[in-house]
Amino acid sequence: MKIPFAENYKIKMVEPIYRSTREEREKWIREARYNLFNLKSSQVYIDLLTDSGTGAMSDRQWGAMMTGDESYAGSSSFFNLKEKVKDLFGFEYMLPVHQGRAAENVLFSVLVKEGDVVPGNSHFDTTKGHIEFRKAKALDCTVSQAFDTENDFPFKGNVDINQLKLVLETYPREQVPLIVLTITCNSSGGQPVSMENIRKVKELADIYDVPLVFDSARFAENAWFIQQREKGYQEKTIKEIVREMYSCADGMTMSSKKDGIVNMGGILAMNRAEWYEKATVFNIMYEGFVTYGGMAGRDMNAMSVGLDEVTESEYLETRIKQVHYLGEQLIDYGIPIQKPIGGHAIFVDAKRFFPHVPVEEFVAQTLAIELYLEAGIRGVEIGTLLADRDPATHLNRYPTLEFLRLAIPRRTYTNNHMDVVAAGLKNIFDRRDQVKHGYTIEYEAPIMRHFTVGLKKF
Ligand code: F0G
Repeated sequence: MKIPFAENYKIKMVEPIYRSTREEREKWIREARYNLFNLKSSQVYIDLLTDSGTGAMSDRQWGAMMTGDESYAGSSSFFNLKEKVKDLFGFEYMLPVHQGRAAENVLFSVLVKEGDVVPGNSHFDTTKGHIEFRKAKALDCTVSQAFDTENDFPFKGNVDINQLKLVLETYPREQVPLIVLTITCNSSGGQPVSMENIRKVKELADIYDVPLVFDSARFAENAWFIQQREKGYQEKTIKEIVREMYSCADGMTMSSKKDGIVNMGGILAMNRAEWYEKATVFNIMYEGFVTYGGMAGRDMNAMSVGLDEVTESEYLETRIKQVHYLGEQLIDYGIPIQKPIGGHAIFVDAKRFFPHVPVEEFVAQTLAIELYLEAGIRGVEIGTLLADRDPATHLNRYPTLEFLRLAIPRRTYTNNHMDVVAAGLKNIFDRRDQVKHGYTIEYEAPIMRHFTVGLKKF
């Protein structure tokens, strides 16, 4: 008999979770105005809202926290992390920040000005937010395959090279301060970018003399997919692949709450001394002194160890196999999801799941609420609520795809929990024809409305 694959860890500490009743959940979600962000975590049984800052640290990471150096300036924790970043990504300069969006804020304060355009592959919301906040534009050049959930293209995070070329030909160099490549591409479903595509983007960037920066939240998961799916990479280690990927980048922003496997933190790193000098000023203003930014010494220590662990094949195999374990069950049940299955989450195609619910009634949010009511599981809407209104016309923007994202925290839940998620979704899918209506908005904020929106039943 073949020995089955199992997790590369055993559990040393547990946290109880409460399995509520449907009556309780009906009351709680009503009180939360049908917004899952308003729920208390104690009202959630399995929390798949995000994989950001929600993972479990290892005993090595907790051990490293005890030896954190909390000196204001020049701490050993900073130098440990700086060395790790140099080793792994090849960048000379590194600034710690409190999370990913802070790295974007600092870097874009240096590079982005009004009227600029920043091409990339489906920029994450905060990246787009920081670009638009500066009255610049984020131009999405993702390959078209990403917008067809049934298409099995293995690198749906890729940039459409012709589209990027067109952007670089259209706008003058002074108006394109950088290209942002998000690896893996969260918004398109945790989908990877191939090494071949990275190289092609870099070639174009060089021809047009535009710097290339990687949004690196899930860089190790991207490397795993290159190792698994791209010809010529099977024999390379994850660390070798990461080094090769980053040999094409001029800099990186990173939320370490994902592939840093810590609960809070981030970095900005680069090789260009002139960027570093300018970024230092903004870092001190917004984050903290250059050797701690937004992070405590103990957190920098935990991140250094996290970067080591996240680039081990055994860890990545465990991680990605769990996401695929859930995804494959859903595919077996006929539930429509973004294919192929990505790295950190399952993206359920809500329009195809609930064909009778109009998009005007927030179909992906409707599915998120149903899943909470059915089994106490919290996912997140990646659809019309998140897409917000057009700033000029104030009309709702309806994205091509309406997703319910089920993001799986690292090393946190077991496959039994995944079985609960799959069964919950299947029960709803079996009675999907009975769900004909969704929700309307009662209250919304002028920007980033999905966090605080209040809804009522249609
Ligand atoms: N870039 C990507 C690709 C992200 O997924 C995120 C966060 C950020 C940047 C910003 O990082 O939260 O540390 O400020 N994504 C989380 C999520 C919030 O749930 O996908 P942050």
